[in-house]
Order: sequence, then C-alpha cells, then structure tokens
Amino acid sequence: MRALNILETVCTTRRSGATRHPHHGLLAIGLGLLLLAGGGGDAAAQDHAGQYEQADIEFGVRLYNANCTRCHAESGDEVAGVDLRSGQYSRAGSDGELMRLLRTGVPGTAMPPNDFTRSELTGLVAYLRTMRDFDVGSVRLGDVTRGRGLFRGAGACATCHRVHGNGPRTAPDLSDIGAIRTAATLQRTLLDPTGTMLPVNRPVRAVTSDGTVINGRRLNEDTYTVQLIDEQERLRSLVKAELREYTVLTTSPMPPATDVLDEQELADVLAYLLSLKGLEHP
Ligand code: HEC
Ligand code: HEC
Repeated sequence: MRALNILETVCTTRRSGATRHPHHGLLAIGLGLLLLAGGGGDAAAQDHAGQYEQADIEFGVRLYNANCTRCHAESGDEVAGVDLRSGQYSRAGSDGELMRLLRTGVPGTAMPPNDFTRSELTGLVAYLRTMRDFDVGSVRLGDVTRGRGLFRGAGACATCHRVHGNGPRTAPDLSDIGAIRTAATLQRTLLDPTGTMLPVNRPVRAVTSDGTVINGRRLNEDTYTVQLIDEQERLRSLVKAELREYTVLTTSPMPPATDVLDEQELADVLAYLLSLKGLEHP
C-alpha cells in the first residue's frame, strides 16, 4: 500500500510537471492564432531555439516512438526524400500547417491520418522542430541481454535505480525510460549526468531546526512544503518555514557511466535502457 502511494506521488509529480509550465497554454493559444492567421508563413517556422517547452518535447518523444518510428525510424530519415530531423518540411511551413499535416496525413502516400488531440499535436510539433538537437545518428546500440547484466553488475546502476519494482527509490524509476527518452538523450545523460540533469530530478539538501541533515530526491514541491525520498528511502514531507536550510543541488549524484563502463558496455546498457518501455519482463 505504501509503495503504491509513493508511486502515485511520483506520477502526480510528473503530471504536475507538465502543467506547472506557465507557457504551455500560451503556446497552444499562439499556435491557434497561427492557424487563424493562415499559417504564419516561414518566419514562424524559423528560429525555434527555446520556443518549445521541455514537457511538450518529452511528450512528443513518447508519441513519436509509439506512432512514427515504424516508418520514419528514430533517426527521422528512413522515408526516402523526407528528413524529419531537418526541422523543415516541404509539405508544411508553419507549425499550424505541420499540425494539419499530422492530422490529415498525406493522401495517396503511406503517411497516415491520425486524430491526435491538440496537446498531442503540440507535443509532436515540439519534438519534430527540435529533433535535430537530439543527435540520433551517432548512438551505437549493443546487446540488450548483456546490458541488463551490466545494469545490475559492473555498471552498479541498480544500486540507485529501480526497474519494474526492483531496486531502491533514491534515483528515478527507469521502468519506462525507453519510451520517454531518445537513444541520444540517454547517451548524453550517461556521459554527463550533471550537464543533462532535469530540474525535476535535482537532489535537495535540507537542514531541520534541530540540525538534522536530510539529503534526498525531490518528488514534489510547492510554496510551503517539499516532499522527498531520503537516503534511507523514506518518504518525507517537510514544511519549508521550519527548515534552517533548504538547497536544491545542481550536481548529479550519478557518476558518468564511463567511470565504470567501456564503450561496448555503454552501448549494451543503452540498448537495455531503450528496451524499457513500461512493460514487465519475465
Ligand atoms: C505507415 C508509414 C508512416 C507512418 C506511420 C508515419 N509516416 Fe510520416 N510520412 C510517411 C511517408 C511515406 C511520407 C512521405 C509522403 C510524401 O510522399 O510526401 C511521410 C511524410 C511525413 C511528413 C512530411 C515531410 C515533408 O518533408 O513534408 C511529416 C512531417 C511526417 N511524415 C511526420 C510523421 C509523424 C510525426 C508521424 C507519427 C505521428 C508519421 N509521420 C507517421 C510515412 C509514414
Ligand atoms: C549513485 C547513484 C546512481 C548510480 C550508481 C546511477 N545513477 Fe542514474 N541517476 C541517479 C540520479 C540521482 C539521477 C537523477 C539526477 C540526474 O538526472 O542526474 C539519475 C538519472 C539517470 C537517468 C536519467 C533519468 C531521466 O529521467 O532522464 C538515467 C537514464 C540513468 N540515471 C541511468 C543510469 C545508468 C544506466 C546507470 C549505470 C551505468 C546509472 N544511472 C547509475 C543516480 C544514480
């Protein structure tokens, strides 16, 4: 029961992560206006840096992996004459046109129509427009079974991470990491945990009024309280006003994978991570 509660907390945190972004709605409204304005032209398609919300991009990765890779591949260049990673499309200039294309498909070709919701379209467009930043081509994938062994063995990943109900809760649960991250993003995380750390994953350090130091992983936070999992895996809820010190750290506790894995082993672990799509393995 307790485990279930913790899981629910994590899920709520993830979801509120998406709604906490104040620009989310603005982006949707902005895109709506573009649609009304008849596309907005090429100017709207250019200069995307920083325009898309991280939460939308992550949602888009998940949708892309589920709906698009069987034809376009993770690299986006599998259909002849189409390079999705370029961020520029012959059939769609503006984001509004791109959304319309994803809904209608391309009649007379294999590109299928889809009744995506508005937020799904927002996610897909956010990912398509930023896809080139993900460097998909350069990732080498090894052997899933060897990777699973390394995850529990030499890589020591399982000493911090939980997969399918096994392992501690001191680091993010990786059970569906292959569905929500691309190979390139995972590779970057493993090579440079600190440089790629997501704000939501930042470790926190709190000192209570009696001087007790609590290090942990933040699950949720509002103006007055913070919920975290401490190093003994206890779920703690702290009232900020009662703390002597509260710091969000910017250095990841995770060591770079190259400390413990060689190049082939890294490729194996990456293949294993990509195979984790939320389904139980026997
Ligand atoms: C069954 C195979 C198939 C699936 C699934 C598929 N596509 Fe396509 N897609 C194609 C083909 C083939 C084309 C080229 C159509 C043409 O001849 O213009 C295409 C074209 C496109 C284009 C236009 C490219 C341009 O340069 O104008 C975009 C954008 C696109 N697809 C995105 C997606 C996304 C995003 C998904 C998933 C939601 C997806 N496709 C799913 C086969 C597919
Ligand atoms: C000392 C504990 C520790 C070890 C050992 C460790 N990690 Fe991590 N890992 C973390 C923490 C804490 C985070 C969250 C902060 C961050 O992103 O750096 C994390 C983040 C990640 C993420 C990103 C999750 C996301 O949401 O994108 C991946 C993937 C990952 N670890 C995989 C691994 C793999 C594979 C190994 C073994 C080679 C490993 N970790 C070893 C603690 C650890």
